[in-house]
Amino acid sequence: MSARGFFITMEGGEGVGKSTSLFYLEALLTARGVDVVTTREPGGTRLGEEVRELLLRVRGEPVDAVAELLLIFAARAQHINALIEPALAAGKWVLSDRFTDATYAYQCGGRGVDRDKVEQLERLVQGTLRPDFTLLLDAPVEVGMQRARERGALDRFERETRLFFERVRQGYLRQAQDQAGRYRVIDAGQPLETVQKMLTAFSDELLARWATTGTGL
Ligand code: TMP
Repeated sequence: MSARGFFITMEGGEGVGKSTSLFYLEALLTARGVDVVTTREPGGTRLGEEVRELLLRVRGEPVDAVAELLLIFAARAQHINALIEPALAAGKWVLSDRFTDATYAYQCGGRGVDRDKVEQLERLVQGTLRPDFTLLLDAPVEVGMQRARERGALDRFERETRLFFERVRQGYLRQAQDQAGRYRVIDAGQPLETVQKMLTAFSDELLARWATTGTGL
């Protein structure tokens, strides 16, 4: 029987270069022989991708913050049960572009939802599942918003105000401080080369940890 894989999440505000870093990390790990499943939230399953579309679409009515929260956790329940848990149980590593830290940052930090509500849903939907490691790409809000604008049409979240994204950033930094053991924070405002060097160091750290706790590659 293979050892359970690592669950690694990548977090950050808009336009911090999350996708580029995710693919770089995936390539590093794959090159070292790790069986990696890369996924994202909201999304990762057919149902989850449909919910993502519902969440991101710009619409003519205001969206209630709790309705938004429940949609996010509905997609997450499907993601965990159909994809994340089976992959981890089969010894694969799961690399997810966002997970519940995004809910603490966006829904609690950004929208002002009580942490208590998110904690209850986290227990209900995730049981004991938590990421083993979380990489936070942190950059000043203005840098990220500018990059998001350059990408083209803005989705429902990207249209939020600078103040909203300041609260999201602070929400992430708070999570990183409270759970420093699993968090690694990278300053995403640095040149790409420097960010890539840090990602390489991170993948080395993961592999070293795996060698002591897992089967050893
Ligand atoms: P993405 O642009 O990184 O793919 O993420 C889609 C949007 O979903 C992003 O603006 C953040 C938002 N989001 C939340 O508000 N809460 C969550 O829990 C997750 C996973 C994403």
